[in-house]
Amino acid sequence: MTRRSDEQAVPGAVATTTPAAREPASAAYLSELFGLHGRTALVTGASRGLGAAMAVALARAGARVCLVGRSDNLGATAAAIAAAGGEAVSLVGDLTTEAGIAALAAEALERCGAVDILVNNAGTFVRKPALEWTAADWDEVADLSTRSVFLLSQRLAAPMLERRHGKIINVASVLAFQGGFTVPAYAASRHALVGLTRALANEWAGRGVNVNAIAPGYIDTDLLHDLKHDPRRSADLLARVPAGRWGAADELAGAAVYLASDASSFVHGTTLVVDGGWLSR
Ligand SMILES: NC(=O)c1ccc[n+]([C@@H]2O[C@H](COP(=O)([O-])OP(=O)(O)OC[C@H]3O[C@@H](n4cnc5c(N)ncnc54)[C@H](OP(=O)(O)O)[C@@H]3O)[C@@H](O)[C@H]2O)c1
Repeated sequence: MTRRSDEQAVPGAVATTTPAAREPASAAYLSELFGLHGRTALVTGASRGLGAAMAVALARAGARVCLVGRSDNLGATAAAIAAAGGEAVSLVGDLTTEAGIAALAAEALERCGAVDILVNNAGTFVRKPALEWTAADWDEVADLSTRSVFLLSQRLAAPMLERRHGKIINVASVLAFQGGFTVPAYAASRHALVGLTRALANEWAGRGVNVNAIAPGYIDTDLLHDLKHDPRRSADLLARVPAGRWGAADELAGAAVYLASDASSFVHGTTLVVDGGWLSR
C-alpha cells in the first residue's frame, strides 16, 4: 500500500491514503492480476460476434492479438483494436481440415511469434429436426466444435508446454449442459468440448498450461439472429432468463480476460458460465 509521506509507520496504526494515491496503487494491482502486456493471444472466429469482442478485450488488457478468420474479413476487428491503441495481426486459416490447421499454426508461429493465449471460439449452428440432419451437417457443426479445437490446441500447446506457460480458452455454450431443441450436433459437440477441456487440463495443468472454457448463454450476435427476431421464441426464452434480457458480446470480456490472465493461475478444467442466470433456473 502506498503510504503518505507525512504518515508515521506506527505499528498497529491504520494506514490511510488519499484517493489519488490509492488509484495508481489499485491500477497497478489490477494490471498485475489481469494485465496481458507482453502476451500474444490468438482468437479464432474473430471477424464478428463473441470472437471479435473477446479479441478487442484481450487487446485492451494489453495483449497483441492474432485474429483468425476463414476469409479476409477481419478488418473491422483489427480497426477496433487499433482504435483502442492495441496491435493486431490478421491471419486467414481453414479450420476444417488437418492440413489447414497445421498451416494456420505454422503461419501463426511465424507471424505472431509464441502464442501465450489461444481462444478457440469459431463455431457454427445448424437447426433442424433430428430426422432431417445429414452426415455432412453433423460434421460441419461437430468438427468445428471439437476436432478443430483439439487439433489447433495440440499444435499451439506444444510450444506453451515447452515454455511451461500458456492459456487455452474454449468457447462452449450453455448447451454443453442442456440438449437444446433441434440442434443435436451442436449440443453433443458442446458437451464434448467441455469434456475435451477437462481432459486437456488434466494432462497440461501440471505443465504450466491452463485449459478452461467459457459457456455463454443467449448473446445477441449473428449466430442467433433468427431466434432473437422470432417474437414468440424470443419472448419464451427471455421469460426464463433471470436477467430478463439477451447478453451483449462485450459481456464476455471479463471472463476472457480473467481466464487469459495470471488471475486464473490455479483454475484448470473449469467452464465459466456467462448466461444471465439461464442455467440456474
Ligand atoms: N451467440 C451466442 O449466444 C452463443 C452462445 C453460446 C455459444 N456460442 C459460441 O460462441 C462462438 C462464437 O459465436 P458468435 O455468436 O460470435 O457467432 P457468429 O457471430 O456467428 O460468429 C461466428 C464466428 O465463427 C466463424 N466461423 C463460422 N464457421 C466457421 C468455419 N467453418 N471455419 C472458421 N470459422 C468459422 C465466423 O467466421 P465468418 O465471419 O467467416 O463466418 C465468425 O467469425 C461459437 O463457437 C458459438 O457456438 C455463442
